[in-house]
Amino acid sequence: MKIPFNRPYLTGNELNYIEDAIRSSQSGGHISGDGKYTKLVQQFFETEFHARKVLLTTSGTSALELAFHLLNLKPGDEVILPSYTFSSTANAVILAGGKPVFADISEETLNIDPKDIIKKITKKTRAICPVHYGGVSCQMDEIMNIANNHNLRVVEDAAQGVNAKYKGKYLGTVGDFGCYSFHETKNYVCGEGGALTINTEDERVIEYAEILREKGTDRSKFFRGEVDKYTWVNIGSSFLISDILAAFLYAQVENIDEIQEKRLLVWNTYYNALKPFEDKGVIRLPIIPEYSQHNAHMFYVLFRNEEIRDMAMHKLKEAGIFAVFHYIPLHSAPMGQNYGYKKNDLPITENLSGRLLRLPMYPSLQLGEVEYITNQLLNILNLNLRS
Ligand SMILES: Cc1ncc(COP(=O)(O)O)c(C=O)c1O
Repeated sequence: MKIPFNRPYLTGNELNYIEDAIRSSQSGGHISGDGKYTKLVQQFFETEFHARKVLLTTSGTSALELAFHLLNLKPGDEVILPSYTFSSTANAVILAGGKPVFADISEETLNIDPKDIIKKITKKTRAICPVHYGGVSCQMDEIMNIANNHNLRVVEDAAQGVNAKYKGKYLGTVGDFGCYSFHETKNYVCGEGGALTINTEDERVIEYAEILREKGTDRSKFFRGEVDKYTWVNIGSSFLISDILAAFLYAQVENIDEIQEKRLLVWNTYYNALKPFEDKGVIRLPIIPEYSQHNAHMFYVLFRNEEIRDMAMHKLKEAGIFAVFHYIPLHSAPMGQNYGYKKNDLPITENLSGRLLRLPMYPSLQLGEVEYITNQLLNILNLNLRS
């Protein structure tokens, strides 16, 4: 048996909508950005998620880059983010002219720890970037309070958090900006894609975001008939997703709940099978706090130490199961070290990242396969426990 770590889920309408996008380009439609399907997906998120404005982008990375550019950071301005995240979160800060400042995570959720955010605030701090790890929400009340007290902006990295909630509110709609990813490894996919949510009422921010996304031009206004020609008005880049990919994505978001239910079934099956072994203290499973309605993006296991984690990963691979570790903490990576961190600066991050293993997780994973995976894992652990 071979069980991959991820398999993108198809709802069945992807090819139909892509064909429609391509065909309609022959009769006045667009396969470039901001065509029919881009608008449909944006409207979907604005209506269903109650986001003030949603702009589809080429990736979660480009959504983050847009968000940090919108903050108008000055050289030396600091942004507090977890070290336990993807490189894009920190890169986006640096590309926008800021300096990433890494905070530790909480044991419970592996999300940024509000207590450590407070410790990292200086006169130069401008923003906080909570990353909702595995689609489990950060402590947003605490984070928003800190931001309000220190006049900081909040950019939510909700790359993994699409359709998950904090106290009933969709992730990505709590802070000033939210960033989603539709990369093939995420819950809703189109190959490569992302979205920026803008939650401010300030129309100038939305206008600036549209300009940044459209190569520094006011083409979005032109398409709406608000100006009679478009021109270069500011700096910008090319962050619009092709309507062919938006067509793929529309087939996914139309089935947003069906996909989530399938993922939750897999997640709960893993949880129930492994829970007795958590109770015995052999492993630790994800903790979902009461304030979080998660989206089953990820199922991970924490082992007692890195040696056992690596042994489990290799033995699972021998059994045809592709389980994978996750982030090497950014502060300890070659690029992160340029920012002056040393070992033990973020002890919880360093400890947990070495013990974590992600199990295969995708909507079409069969429950029989989940049983096979958990049985293999338990065999491996029993062997280890006996030795
Ligand atoms: C936390 C986090 N932020 C940002 C990204 C970047 O998203 P994308 O791959 O769509 O650029 C990812 C993707 O892996 C991620 O996990």
